[in-house]
Amino acid sequence: MRDRSHFDGQYTTSWDKALAKRTERMESSIIRELLKFTMQPEVISFAGGMPAPELFPVRDFREACEWILTHDAESALQYGTTEGYPPLKDYLVEAMHKYDLPAERGNVLLTNGSQQALDLIGKVFIDEGNEIITCRPTYLGAIQAWNVYGPKFVTVPLDDDGMRMDELEKALATHPSAKFVYVLPNFHNPAGTTLSLERRYRLVELAAKHGAFIIEDDPYGELRFEGEDLIPICALHKENTVYLSTFSKTLAPGLRLGWIVAPKTVIAKLIQAKQGADLNTSTLVQYMAYDICSRGLIKAHVKKIRDAYRERRNVMLQAMEEYFPPGVTWTRPQGGLFLWVRMPEQIDAEKLLKVAVEEKVAFVPGSAFYPNGTDGKCCMRLNFSNAQPDMIREGIRRLGQAIKREMGLA
Ligand SMILES: Cc1ncc(COP(=O)(O)O)c(C=O)c1O
Repeated sequence: MRDRSHFDGQYTTSWDKALAKRTERMESSIIRELLKFTMQPEVISFAGGMPAPELFPVRDFREACEWILTHDAESALQYGTTEGYPPLKDYLVEAMHKYDLPAERGNVLLTNGSQQALDLIGKVFIDEGNEIITCRPTYLGAIQAWNVYGPKFVTVPLDDDGMRMDELEKALATHPSAKFVYVLPNFHNPAGTTLSLERRYRLVELAAKHGAFIIEDDPYGELRFEGEDLIPICALHKENTVYLSTFSKTLAPGLRLGWIVAPKTVIAKLIQAKQGADLNTSTLVQYMAYDICSRGLIKAHVKKIRDAYRERRNVMLQAMEEYFPPGVTWTRPQGGLFLWVRMPEQIDAEKLLKVAVEEKVAFVPGSAFYPNGTDGKCCMRLNFSNAQPDMIREGIRRLGQAIKREMGLA
């Protein structure tokens, strides 16, 4: 008689051998790993890129869900088109016009967060060995999404005004077949910097001259605390740009809802790639986002979080002045969720993290944001949106203590 244990031990697949070669290039994100640790209640975490959970518009979501399930359940719970829910696309098109973004329904694709957009871009554009240009440092999730497709990362340094155009010019001259330039013009993750207006124009010129296109990743543009909005790169040269944004930072990352604006031929390929991945972005989630957007609730909510994050940034900057020892410098972001700290060269941020953990505070070591993994050792990224102001002060005090210990000052 055969029972459930009949095959036990008879055939054992060697999973290591079964895995595709490309999986060797897949790595766990250090942030996801860190998050496990930072979930401990006594740890003050500046590590993740998480919005303030107590500010999520829970009531709006509840009402939206109730209304949709009462009035429109049959379509909201059905499969949807890969392109996305048309009324939501129309809303986005309209909202983007405020920033002169040249979107129309046919060149917008809803995605499962911007992270999926990055992966689809990798799938559609990156052949093994292709050169792609990013800042150094750059968004860790883009490195993770693209690594698997086997590109060669060519990196360009940034300063307080974002990616350096003199260095980009050199990179494009020495890597003439580079496929695209990946930029985060507003409140860069991890550096917190904003690409100046002059550099936006220069970027467009340089990329066009060298036949590279631009990927503009803009999750934080709505979260400006001060200064004037700067024109998106996509608005300067729409034929040469793929623009990404998301509801993760303006509504809630749990929605997993983002979008791409690109020339129609690119959207057509991305749609095919997305069909193979997940058929369509959650219909129910798109209906809910549309309900919240179309009732004007998102505008009030964004204003609320902008004010809260501005205060938290200010508290963090103030506390750093107070508690960080001389020799440590940092960026002063005009918006977004992050700032970037540079310590004296001899400090290794990965080692510092161990000391910080003893002090019950966490951050992300800078080297995680370098595609080739060799720089940024004395740097770290701090997030200021997730902790309440009094916790930020206390966390920075603890971090200052850890840095002093590492520098031999305490
Ligand atoms: C620059 C950048 N791009 C993309 C993403 C991914 O966002 P989403 O939650 O929409 O997948 C993030 C998230 O932190 C980000 O900082």
